[in-house]
Amino acid sequence: MPRNSRIQGLRDHTPDERLDLVAEGAGIAAEALAALRPDAGLSIAQADHLVENVVGVIAVPVGVATNFTIDGEDRLVPMATEEPSVVAAASNAARIARVHGGFRTSSSGDVMIAQIQILDAVDPHAARLRVLEARDELLALANELDPILVSFGGGARDIDVRILPTRVGTQVIVHLHVDVRDAMGANAVNTMAEAIAPRIAEIAGSRTLLRILTNKADQRITRARAVFDADLLGGAQVVADIVAASAFAEADPYRAATHNKGIMNGITAVVLATGNDTRAVEAGCHSHAARSGRYAALSQFEQDADGNLVGTIEVPLAVGLVGGATKAHPTAQAGVALLGVETARELAAAIASVGLAQNLAACRALAAEGIQRGHMTLHARTIAASAGATVDEIGAVAARIVADRRIRVEYAREVLDELRATSA
Ligand code: MEV
Repeated sequence: MPRNSRIQGLRDHTPDERLDLVAEGAGIAAEALAALRPDAGLSIAQADHLVENVVGVIAVPVGVATNFTIDGEDRLVPMATEEPSVVAAASNAARIARVHGGFRTSSSGDVMIAQIQILDAVDPHAARLRVLEARDELLALANELDPILVSFGGGARDIDVRILPTRVGTQVIVHLHVDVRDAMGANAVNTMAEAIAPRIAEIAGSRTLLRILTNKADQRITRARAVFDADLLGGAQVVADIVAASAFAEADPYRAATHNKGIMNGITAVVLATGNDTRAVEAGCHSHAARSGRYAALSQFEQDADGNLVGTIEVPLAVGLVGGATKAHPTAQAGVALLGVETARELAAAIASVGLAQNLAACRALAAEGIQRGHMTLHARTIAASAGATVDEIGAVAARIVADRRIRVEYAREVLDELRATSA
């Protein structure tokens, strides 16, 4: 059944109604999303199998971003975040991209790298060449360990060796490149690295120390691109101002850190909602932002030949659909079902697209009216809830405290009392 991510007025429904609507839009049964409800999510018994010394679980809201078309497919995107405005902003940016076909993505492949550190080599340059000469033997040894990955078309692909001058002397660093297919890949590459390290030590005639993947996953890059309509953005001046804001982030690390934080608002929310490793992705993205030697923006905005805004992003995304919390966490499984992705690459394509959408929304707001107006309007709903408003009362209380420009809990309480008095 074709998916439809264009659900108008989703925000005007209750959470239960929204769950039914997004299930319908995703073309799946509502039961597949049941674990998104707090009472049907991760049980304490399940949590106890995930980490140590478990005493509880923490709930984070999951919102659904609408309007996304990614590589010609509509996708409803689950986003786990405590920050107001993020889900609405992503949905709004996706709407502005939708009229020009949405997001187009490409991938460098699913290759993760493990590092094996060789210490005390007496002849580091010759040791490097000896390891390279043993490439086929080492790849075969690594692949023997993971016949399942090999049967799915993955496995160890290549070896690279670097000479690294350090403050404690020259080290030789072996990189094992592994096509991890639909896994995040940490377990697969770490197992292989540990298994081939003794043979590498023998060949190098010295000892190995660390054997661990690098989170600088620069062989696992996802790129996304979208054209944002100039009229829907607010006109030519807004386009020019977003280009200027982008140039600022490309040139200045202080601005780049905040620009990229906006991107990560989207990326981390989808990574978390699908049970993936947020820290691995964040480490990868920030190291990629510094790849030139100077920390810079992960995205760029330009004006295209038709006067529209074209946005591009390139990020390393070590995410998977097999193993880890993606399989062990019922809510993460519901998130993946809603998104409707079948491969790690499709998941990464959605994550990069949301990162770009989030970034566009922030840059547009900053370059136009400033971030606080929209943010405070949404924040007002949280304030109304903190003041004790019920689900049915939140909308009215939030609207009033925004209109009166007094977005504070005490005032929300006053408005609530008034509202209840008049409706009693
Ligand atoms: C806030 O969470 C994110 C922003 O600061 C991003 C940006 O400045 O581009 C609004």
